[in-house]
Amino acid sequence: MTELLCKQDYEAATAATRDERMAWFREARFGMFVHFGLYAMYGRNEWVWALENIPKDEYEARADAFQPREGCPREWAKLASEAGMKYMVLTTKHHEGFCLWDTKMTDWNSVKRGPKRDIVAEYVEACREFGLKIGFYHSLMDWHHPDGGTCAYDMDARRRFLDYTQGCVRELMTNYGKIDVLWYDVPEPMKNFEGWESLQMNQMVRELQPGIIINNRSRLDEDLGTPEGHVSPEERDWEACMTFNGISWGYVDSNQALPDSYNVRGILRMLLTACGAKGNLLLNIGPTPDGSVPEEAIKPLQDTGKWIAKHAEVVYPVSDRWRTGQLGGWVNATRRGNKMYVWTKIWPHEPAGLGGIMTPLKSACLLPDRTPLTFEQANQRILLTNLPKECPDKIANMAIIELEFDEPPVHKGCSRQPALHGGKQH
Ligand code: GLC
Repeated sequence: MTELLCKQDYEAATAATRDERMAWFREARFGMFVHFGLYAMYGRNEWVWALENIPKDEYEARADAFQPREGCPREWAKLASEAGMKYMVLTTKHHEGFCLWDTKMTDWNSVKRGPKRDIVAEYVEACREFGLKIGFYHSLMDWHHPDGGTCAYDMDARRRFLDYTQGCVRELMTNYGKIDVLWYDVPEPMKNFEGWESLQMNQMVRELQPGIIINNRSRLDEDLGTPEGHVSPEERDWEACMTFNGISWGYVDSNQALPDSYNVRGILRMLLTACGAKGNLLLNIGPTPDGSVPEEAIKPLQDTGKWIAKHAEVVYPVSDRWRTGQLGGWVNATRRGNKMYVWTKIWPHEPAGLGGIMTPLKSACLLPDRTPLTFEQANQRILLTNLPKECPDKIANMAIIELEFDEPPVHKGCSRQPALHGGKQH
């Protein structure tokens, strides 16, 4: 290993390469999170072991019943690609400690138990087949490892546990070719980066995977903010991670989850916030115990992909970090340079206005066909005068109106930075 850098030098070095490493991520906009593990068999929540105080023996005994079908990661990747997603992040190990890859570090893994297969290898292959960037989620907190709790205060236990953790991470960064994202989670019980030896660990990661993006959950800021359960823009690169139903990351019964699950419009509203503030949306599915995509996620994701395919020019390229004030209750907007993209929430059926735009409008049209729209502009009101009777978008009843100006448009009450709090648009 090359010489270990101190925190300041390490952070300067990673900052210097960040723009290059993050280029694909900043245009990716949309990714699929996959929470898959033994907890899928319980169908109640991925925390079921800890929350219900299940005895360790009982939890362990169920591992061999875990029999995901061969090829299921291919189904996730296919759907992700259909949905317009550009990358995936799979739980290689969640808090239950069960490793989904062929690890030498423990027998508590999917090659020794359950399916007797390397699920991570299947996943990596599927991502490559569909041209998706590859992310590995890895929980630092571990309920199964004997030192996973005592490492907080017993230094011998800590040494063993850190060796274990670093060994797992080293395998993941070594055995599967190029990996694009390392997504740590829950750095408990150690309370600082020194306790986790995160500087050492992440320098090892970057030596093995020079282009990798690392999130902010190893008690170092690293490359990425990870708002969870809310799509709140941050000033830095950020990615909001969201469950599909507000109930669980792991699988829960589809029929019961359906009323709480996203439809295409809900997904697009989250994407809108991401597009308007230089962020990404990492939307989760929790596959069924046999590895199938949960039923309720399929159509909304496919419809999202169809909509995105029509509006790719609005979704993927890097937009300005820009928020308008209120333009009208029927719309939200994003901006790229001299163009404003107005996303409709409700179709007005008659001439309708956009309030507060201070910049003279040059032209307006409906995407994706670029059907010209006529307008009048006076007294801080743009009145769109020939809107079609029905919303032209039949997939999500959400159309995009492009407004073009001679200069970047200004809106009264517009802020150039997203509000750090209350920045949600969905
Ligand atoms: C939380 C939960 C976990 C989930 C994660 C996703 O930290 O502990 O179950 O995997 O969020 O961001």
